[in-house]
Amino acid sequence: MNELIFATHNRHKLEEAVALAGASFVIKGLTEIRCFEEIPETADSLLGNARIKAEYVYRRYGVNCFSDDTGLEIDALGGRPGVYSARYAGENCDFHENVLKVLREMEGQSNRNACFKTVIVLILNGEQYTFEGRVNGEIITQQQGMSGFGYDPIFRPRGFSKTFAEMSDKEKNLISHRGMAMRKLMEFLKEKY
Ligand code: IMP
Repeated sequence: MNELIFATHNRHKLEEAVALAGASFVIKGLTEIRCFEEIPETADSLLGNARIKAEYVYRRYGVNCFSDDTGLEIDALGGRPGVYSARYAGENCDFHENVLKVLREMEGQSNRNACFKTVIVLILNGEQYTFEGRVNGEIITQQQGMSGFGYDPIFRPRGFSKTFAEMSDKEKNLISHRGMAMRKLMEFLKEKY
């Protein structure tokens, strides 16, 4: 059976990928190859960070693998938080602090356009491939909804009346940046295998 390592410690992302892969190949996380370290994300782009993670795993563990990196880009903030989405409010901040910082910076802004972008880098037998997903939407003025994570309570995808945090996982995955990039990756792999 073909095996692929997803360079993540995030169980939620891993389960999502396993579900999308179906029976064509086996996807495992970093824990399963006994990689417990945090891989530093020091690049200044999503592609750069995704590349660092995939190359790190491929070099150290010699396994076919893929990694992802995501950012929220807000037009009125010149594309911030972007590649710094995880630590926007400071080094040890949580999701809530990031959301509050964005809401504060967006006070009084009439242009509320934003998008989520995900970049996936796959390394298969030494060859690199990239896949991207993007969803446009807007930043609303106060938090709505309890599910999801990160900036979900303040992001409403274009054409929908609910935020990501008011959607079920299944609903969100169908239209989300990561869902889109993942499906492109899976289609590519299914053709290969
Ligand atoms: P990562 O590269 O997937 O770890 O994402 C970086 C940061 O972007 C996360 O810490 C979250 O704050 C935010 N983020 C990523 N994906 C999502 C999402 O689907 N919804 C809301 N926020 C997200």
